Amino acid sequence: MSELNVPSQQPSFAPEPSVRRPLRIAIFGFGTVGSSAARILVESQPEGLELTHVFNRGVARKRVDWVPSSVEWSEDAEAVLSSDVDVIVELAGGLEPAGSWVRRALNAGKSVVTANKKLIAYHGIELERLAAAKGGDLKYGAAVAGGIPVIPGLEQGLAGDRIERVEGILNGTCNFMLSKMEEGAEYAAVLATAQARGYAEADPTEDVGGFDARAKLAILMRLALRAEINPEEIVPKPITEISAVDFSYARDLGCTIRQVARGERSGEEIAATVGPMLVAQRSPLAWSRGTENMVVLSGRYGGNVVFSGHGAGGNPTAVAVVSDLLALAHGSRRVDIPSTPGHVGAEFEVPHYIRFRVVDRPGIVAEITGALAKEQINIRAIVQKSGYPQEALPFVVTVEPCKSSALSRALENIRTMDCLLDEPLDLQMLE
Ligand SMILES: NC(=O)c1ccc[n+]([C@@H]2O[C@H](COP(=O)([O-])OP(=O)(O)OC[C@H]3O[C@@H](n4cnc5c(N)ncnc54)[C@H](OP(=O)(O)O)[C@@H]3O)[C@@H](O)[C@H]2O)c1
Repeated sequence: MSELNVPSQQPSFAPEPSVRRPLRIAIFGFGTVGSSAARILVESQPEGLELTHVFNRGVARKRVDWVPSSVEWSEDAEAVLSSDVDVIVELAGGLEPAGSWVRRALNAGKSVVTANKKLIAYHGIELERLAAAKGGDLKYGAAVAGGIPVIPGLEQGLAGDRIERVEGILNGTCNFMLSKMEEGAEYAAVLATAQARGYAEADPTEDVGGFDARAKLAILMRLALRAEINPEEIVPKPITEISAVDFSYARDLGCTIRQVARGERSGEEIAATVGPMLVAQRSPLAWSRGTENMVVLSGRYGGNVVFSGHGAGGNPTAVAVVSDLLALAHGSRRVDIPSTPGHVGAEFEVPHYIRFRVVDRPGIVAEITGALAKEQINIRAIVQKSGYPQEALPFVVTVEPCKSSALSRALENIRTMDCLLDEPLDLQMLE
């Protein structure tokens, strides 16, 4: 009898048929992202995932007829957390009570998927350790750049590289506003439009002040630069001082203006900053318009990798949430990227754009160049466009790469000049 006739005696390499029941999922927070995530789970019915609970305060306001009757609606967080759900999807936002729910779930050995950048930026390390200790998992692919898979990209496709620099447009509200200003509008008008369209909050400080982008940068720096940075160490610069005249000057310099978050490793030290910057019109960062996000990761071995797409909005962000849930359901193991505590001690050495607004009088340029020379800062160009009144004259000085601390000292001297109408605007230039 040939071997072929006795297949039952052969070792079998066929995979065991899966007998795992679907993961039981509770969504905490049925708002923009929570309702979109529920919609995808209900409509697409991804294999291995079952929506069983929706938790929100004032649930009567939230109920919708497209959620199957098998799903339990609840206003009682404790009851859902102590039920037999496998995964809590935290989409309420903020540090508390979201943080307590997440800790409670992880302590019970459940897994958590969240889009909460603030919670992950400030407490991500502690929560990941808790998850590992209790046998659950914590996934937050939606916390940075919404629907753009930059976090899974870092955890999988780029884990083999050593990322040395991360640069990104991480706040869709600022990008919408700045790309509208590029068309000629002033700050106050574009803020009103952003608020009317629901892109900006009534109090826009988190976005325009750079606080939202710095939380996302801190998360990216941990995965990309492997450095655990307290977000408070990154001092953001607001976009509020940018005016239409800056876009006009930027255009003449072959640039535009974007809110950029950047972090770089310089030996053991980290340089990190968030704020409006001049970016060359031919650079990828200038291409992103409207509410788009973009992240450029520069690897020692692989060079630049660019991620771009919709960084916010219910559906794009919910795609990232459901993708995290599918990774859990399929038991996908991510690469454990080691990180160590770091601090922001290094400075970027880049060219700067400085815009002055003055009452014109003789000797202004000589005084400014003198203050810069005292700090060994070389001037690249002095640009003055015609058509502005002598009593409120905007002009621009660009300088060769220098440390921000040296420029700050020079500007401290320049600020004492009696002809200045307002604070000089200092922007980094990315080349
Ligand atoms: N929207 C985006 O484009 C986007 C993109 C990336 C990441 N994210 C992140 O995703 C998360 C959710 O954002 P979102 O835009 O979906 O917010 P949202 O529309 O305000 O939804 C939050 C939901 O959670 C509920 N909620 C908040 N606090 C609660 C509490 N203490 N008890 C019970 N329910 C509570 C809210 O109920 P009420 O209706 O009663 O307030 C609301 O239904 C945030 O962490 C956000 O940073 C959002």
